[in-house]
Amino acid sequence: MLLEVKNLRKDYKRATQQFSAVNNISFSMAQNDFISIMGKSGSGKTTLLNMIAGLLTPTQGKVTINGTNLFELDDKQVSAFRNQYLGYIPQGSSLLPNLTALENIRLPFSLTKRENQSSLNYALQLLEKAQISYLKDAYPANMSGGEMRRIAILRALICQPQLVIADEPTSDLDEESSAQIMALLADIHQQGTGLLIVTHDNDVAGYSQRTLKMSSGRLID
Ligand SMILES: Nc1ncnc2c1ncn2[C@@H]1O[C@H](COP(=O)(O)OP(=O)(O)OP(=O)(O)O)[C@@H](O)[C@H]1O
Ligand SMILES: [Mg+2]
Repeated sequence: MLLEVKNLRKDYKRATQQFSAVNNISFSMAQNDFISIMGKSGSGKTTLLNMIAGLLTPTQGKVTINGTNLFELDDKQVSAFRNQYLGYIPQGSSLLPNLTALENIRLPFSLTKRENQSSLNYALQLLEKAQISYLKDAYPANMSGGEMRRIAILRALICQPQLVIADEPTSDLDEESSAQIMALLADIHQQGTGLLIVTHDNDVAGYSQRTLKMSSGRLID
């Protein structure tokens, strides 16, 4: 299995109330599955993705990627593991404003000090494939929302991950930009990458093989 999520729970406290933002969720994904997650605002989707990406420690439960339990690794190991296997496209804008598109895409490489010519060539290839080579030297402030989103997707691909996780990759975009983003993601899936995306959009979910529905922290049918 590419991904196994077992009895995952995250409790938060608000004022004096404790509640489970994610409440006992289990599912799994094979290599090259494409799964979408839908649910109302506040139903726990981002919290779930953050735990799967190893960015947030669960109150209870397990996340296993390619047989490795994320929460048995220390911080440094989780970062290295994430860099090797996972591409994460966070909700909202996530580009660094003081870096160009090309520098943003290569950032995961720069961070692990593996920066080299091949990462440059691959980044340029990705830009070309996404048909946004013209953005290479542009800064995020001078890009449209859809362009920024596409650069964030390319950044998630630079380390050639087996699993790409995207949190609302088409939110706030018009139909045409959404379609461009989904074409890019569908292409990634076509090439054998597992895809897990959160979306509010039925059309976007329509690209996936299976849709999981979340309500108040739980998976429902
Ligand atoms: N750090 C935190 N501390 C306390 N409560 C939190 C924290 N992070 C999230 N929550 C709460 O957990 C619940 C789930 O939040 P989450 O961001 O996962 O929702 P979501 O489904 O992604 O919503 P949206 O569609 O608006 O992005 C919400 O009620 C939110 O207020
Ligand atoms: Mg969210």
